[in-house]
Amino acid sequence: MFRVTRRYQFAASHRLHTAALGEEENRRLYGKCNNPHGHGHNYVVEVSARGPLDPATSSAVDTGRLDGLVAREVLGPFHQRNLNLDIAAFAGTVPTSENLAAEICRRLKAAWSTEFPGPWPKLDRIRVAETARNIFEINADEIE
Ligand code: NI
Repeated sequence: MFRVTRRYQFAASHRLHTAALGEEENRRLYGKCNNPHGHGHNYVVEVSARGPLDPATSSAVDTGRLDGLVAREVLGPFHQRNLNLDIAAFAGTVPTSENLAAEICRRLKAAWSTEFPGPWPKLDRIRVAETARNIFEINADEIE
C-alpha cells in the first residue's frame, strides 16, 4: 500500500470572526485574520490518496485524474475568491483552516467515485498550509 501526495496552491481571502465571542476575544484569538476587511493567504493544499500498485502501470494513484478532480472541485471554486462570501459552506461557518480542510475533504469525497470508480485509490488525507508556520490536517476517514 502506498500513500501518494500532490501539492496544490490557491489564493483566497477571508475574515475569521465568530458571533459567539466579543470583539476583543475575536481579535485575540484570530489576530490579523480578524481584520474587519479581510485579508489574503496563499494556501498550499496537499491531497493524499492511498492504494496498492496497479500492476498494469506500477503506480498507486493516477495523478492526472487526481489533478483534474482537485482543479474542478477545489481550485476552480476557491482560487481568488473570498471564502466567507463566495463559498456557501462558510456563510455561517468561520473559514478557519480547520474548516477549510474539512470542506475540501467533503468536496473531494463527494466527487471521488466519479474520477476513481474502482475500490482504489481511496482519499486519505488533506493538509492545508495557511502560512509557512501553520499546517492543518484531516484524515478523510474521519469526516462524513
Ligand atoms: Ni487569515
